[in-house]
Order: sequence, then C-alpha cells, then structure tokens
Amino acid sequence: MRNKCSLVSVLLVFTLFHTLDIVSAQNVPAVALFTFGDSNFDAGNRKFLLNANAPQNFWPYGKSRDDPNGKFSDGKIVPDFIAKFMGIPHDLPPAFKPDADVSRGASFAVGHASLLGSPRGSLNLNQQVRRFNDMRSNWKEDYIHKSLFMIFIGTEDYLNFTKNNPNADGSAQQAFVTSVTNRLRRDINLLYSSGASKFVVYMLPPLGCLPIVRQEYKTGNGCYEKLNDLAKQHNAIIGPMLNEMAKTGAGFQFTVFDFYNVVLRRTQRNLNYRYSVANISCCGVGTHNAYGCGLPNVHSKLCEYQRSYLYFDASHHSEKAQESFAHLLFGADTIVIQPLNVRELIVYPADESMRDLWEDKTEEKLSLVLDVDVDASGSEYTI
Ligand SMILES: *[C@@H]1O[C@H](CO)[C@@H](O)[C@H](O)[C@H]1NC(C)=O
Ligand SMILES: *[C@@H]1O[C@H](CO)[C@@H](O)[C@H](O)[C@H]1NC(C)=O
Repeated sequence: MRNKCSLVSVLLVFTLFHTLDIVSAQNVPAVALFTFGDSNFDAGNRKFLLNANAPQNFWPYGKSRDDPNGKFSDGKIVPDFIAKFMGIPHDLPPAFKPDADVSRGASFAVGHASLLGSPRGSLNLNQQVRRFNDMRSNWKEDYIHKSLFMIFIGTEDYLNFTKNNPNADGSAQQAFVTSVTNRLRRDINLLYSSGASKFVVYMLPPLGCLPIVRQEYKTGNGCYEKLNDLAKQHNAIIGPMLNEMAKTGAGFQFTVFDFYNVVLRRTQRNLNYRYSVANISCCGVGTHNAYGCGLPNVHSKLCEYQRSYLYFDASHHSEKAQESFAHLLFGADTIVIQPLNVRELIVYPADESMRDLWEDKTEEKLSLVLDVDVDASGSEYTI
C-alpha cells in the first residue's frame, strides 16, 4: 500500500513538473514583432533613412542606458519591452539599419511619420508598409501570419492640422478626422493583404497635454482642449472600424490600446502613479522644457531623476513610463486594452475569427477617471 502510494506521488510529481515544463515552453510562441508609426516607435531608423545623425542620436537621449541610439527616450521604448516579454533576446532593431538582425521582427517606424501627406525626411505609414513588403523575403508567410503588428500613428497629422488651421470649425475637423482614419484603414488593409493578421492599434493620447503643445499654445498648467478633442474624435472611430475589418476579413485579429485614458490618468493623478512631474518634460528649454533636447547648440536642461517624469522630452515618455505601458499592453484587462491583451492576441490561434469584438466602454471609463481613488496602489501594473 505504502509503495503504491509513493509510486503514485512520484508519478504525480513527475506529471506536475512535466506539465510545468510544457506550459513554460508554450508561454508565448516564438513569433516576430513588427512596429509601424512615428517617433514613438522609431528604433533609430531616421539616421539610416537620412544617412545623417538626428538630435535623438545624441546625449541626453539614451542617458539611462548610456546609449543614445536614435530612440526618443532616456532609454528603451515600449516595443523593446514587448520584445523582451515575447522572448526576443535583443531590443527591436531598426529595419533600415543595414546589418540588423530582423529574424524576430523590426521597427519600420520613423520620427515625424504621418498618415497623410509625405512628411519631409520621414515616411508616411503607406510608405512604411511598402518598405515592409520590399523586405518580405526575410520571413516565411506562415510566420508573418502568426506575428504581431503594432501601429501607433496619427499624432503628426493632428499637430500639423491644428497648426495650419487654427480656426477650423466642427465640420472641418470632422472631415479631417475622416480622411486620417480612412487612410489608416487603407494602410492596415494593405498590411493584411501582405499576410499580416494580428494587429495592435494604439488610440491617440491626449495630444493637448503634450509638453510641446502646452508650451506652444501657452496653456500653462492646462491642456489644449482642441487637440484633445481631435484625438477623441479619432479614437472613437478606431474600435468600430477594426470590428468591421474583423467581420469581413477572414482571420483578421486585432486589439485596441486605450492610450488616451492611460496617459490621462497619469497626467491627472501623477503622484498615484509615482511621477512627481507630468506637465513638463525632463529635457529641454522653455516654459515646459519642450524645445531643443539633444540639440548641440541648445544648452537644454536635464532633470536630475528621469524616472520621476512622465515625459522625457517635448512629446515622448521616459523609459519608466514606457515600461509601464508595455506591461499594460501585454497583460492588462479590457478597461485598458480590448478585446484581448497582447499576450492573448499572440496565443490566439491564427486563422480563427475573434470570439469577442471591441466594445465602447466610455461610460465605465468616465467613472474610473472621476473616481477619487483611495486604493490606487501606484504599482507599475495599475491601469
Ligand atoms: C501638413 O499640412 C500641410 C498644409 O495642410 C500639408 O501641405 C502637408 O502635407 C502636411 N504635412 C503632413 C506631414 O501631413
Ligand atoms: C506643473 O505642475 C506643478 C505641480 O502641480 C505646478 O506647480 C507647476 O506650476 C506646473 N508647471 C507648469 C509650467 O504649468
């Protein structure tokens, strides 16, 4: 009896360990990560595209890692952390770097990229997708199919529009939002017809709260609401648009990151999230430190402790903030990212249609923002 018992427990222990082993090996499949968009996702492409250094190739960019490599941060950016969570053994490389190891994906994003127009010294999203197609022989079709495509773009379009049309009325704004989002739909469709099927799309952040916008529009401690409104109008279209694409496109899978409210919460209640400063940037000059970070001829100010700032420069986040956004993308629940988080999207069987679609949760969010929180732990995983 006793022998039988220990045999059972030996078997049980063996089974347990065996199962654990399989689970950890299947944690997430070894697929690639491809990013598209503007400076937020630029892994250093601008230098290779223009064959010239840019301010972000110089100190104090990359300061926290002692490595100014063309990323708009004091260190790593969101895609580097996502890559790490996916088991990719290095930061996500710039696709345009000649000898880059792109076997687990690459960044096609470039600073100043927009959806409309042909941004000078940059690429619009459509041009980035075409560059991806030029390089497609680097990856097998099935691998592309299972890999992740992250897109964060639109900021430059709305900054440009607001600068050129300061008095645009409601219908002019609406017309512009429609043309921007139509272009986004077209470019995502182009990626889809190139074999991509798993999309992570960022909503735009509260653009009116960027230090560069506060400084240029002289809003003091407030945000420039006109730009926040444009971002909200843009964001309202993203979820329904992708729902439509998933209903009509076989195997089309997506998720939407509510970056607007993620950043707004940190702006309004910065101390709860352990940022001592959220209304000006760490590096630069001017009322909100929003000019000249990295420029050799500007004696720009650099804050003492980068990790206590939500923004590192005029419009980009500190590495600490970038890391917390990556945690949210990868593991948060539907109030932040829906219908799936990135981890769930990666393991979701390719070719299957999605069981859940995006839902409008504006009401829930409103109560969340208004809720004077007593229990916000401020940990990096807090929504
Ligand atoms: C910015 O706006 C101007 C004027 O509307 C336009 O000509 C230009 O193409 C826009 N730039 C980008 C990058 O969209
Ligand atoms: C930023 O916020 C702090 C603390 O709330 C405030 O004292 C300061 O005046 C603000 N800075 C600007 C430029 O509005």
